[in-house]
Amino acid sequence: MSPAPAPDVDAGGRQRLDPNQQALVARARALGIETVDLSGDWGCDAVRYRKGDREALVFMGQQFPSLTAHGATLCDHKHACKALLADAGLRVPEGVFFFSPDGARAALQALLDRHGRVVVKPVDGMHGDGIRTGIVDMDALVAHWRTIRSCRAGFLAEQQVEGDDLRIQAIGGRLVAACRREPASVVGDGRQTIAALSAARDAVCRAQNPLNRLILDDDSRALLADQGLHPDDVPAAGRAVRLKSLTNISMGGRPVDVTDRLHAAWPSVVETIARVLGLSIFSVDVLTADPGLPPDAGHVIEVNARPEWLHHTFSEGRQHDIAGMILAELLG
Ligand SMILES: Nc1ncnc2c1ncn2[C@@H]1O[C@H](COP(=O)(O)OP(=O)(O)O)[C@@H](O)[C@H]1O
Ligand SMILES: [Mg+2]
Repeated sequence: MSPAPAPDVDAGGRQRLDPNQQALVARARALGIETVDLSGDWGCDAVRYRKGDREALVFMGQQFPSLTAHGATLCDHKHACKALLADAGLRVPEGVFFFSPDGARAALQALLDRHGRVVVKPVDGMHGDGIRTGIVDMDALVAHWRTIRSCRAGFLAEQQVEGDDLRIQAIGGRLVAACRREPASVVGDGRQTIAALSAARDAVCRAQNPLNRLILDDDSRALLADQGLHPDDVPAAGRAVRLKSLTNISMGGRPVDVTDRLHAAWPSVVETIARVLGLSIFSVDVLTADPGLPPDAGHVIEVNARPEWLHHTFSEGRQHDIAGMILAELLG
């Protein structure tokens, strides 16, 4: 499948349509579906899709008419969302919601004592922003909270669970694709520096989705130091070098398709999530040792009510016509 088209840029140099929306428009045109780009008139990323007497207004290529305020509010609050999923019998990491560590010190300390290692994140974050894994004591928890304390919706400290990142896509409340997300990495060739290798990988990421970036940041430098490396070092040929602690594709993570390897119970778990949260088109983030294990072997981390889906169109191993499936769901 071809990579996402380059972004439209308006007179002010701003990108007009999100790459997910651009891919949806391109697929609609290929299918003979009428598209009306309202972004110029409205000043927001909105496209109307029309087929016969049916039409659907889509924002950012990720927000569809079926999304209710109820569903969006639930998914935008990771703690509330997980509470509902736990009530429905799904396995989620134990978490403590807090505004300031002082207000929840006993519960946070108990979480640290029980699990040893916790993750702290904004309760309404996305794209991995503000997430710190590997927090082992109250001092580190408070130090990280100070760096993200301006997030007004509050914070979540969560049991750190192990496993690979599994991203499941649902359309019409049904599982359609899944990939394992691997953190950004490069493989040495014995000639180029880590900085040069990651710049080359960054170019690939941008070609797949112009909003994705592989940038060597503090997290990367800390990980490199753990591996005894510096961005200017030249890794030996064949040596794999990890560059991010998180697997978000927007930070250069790699999607590897695992749809055909998923345990047979996952589709019904996805249908339960759709029913409990009242969602149709969404994605689920899971941590599991292996996608072939029963869902109970892993933990559901979050549900995205406005899912980015483009990575399933360039995932390694197998690609999916997500845009075509979304258009069929919206317009029949
Ligand atoms: N409880 C946890 N245990 C281990 N890793 C976690 C946990 N929560 C988040 N992570 C890691 O951080 C990533 C981003 O977390 P997530 O809650 O999905 O936030 P975002 O909305 O920014 O994607 C996850 O995909 C996972 O790799
Ligand atoms: Mg996520």
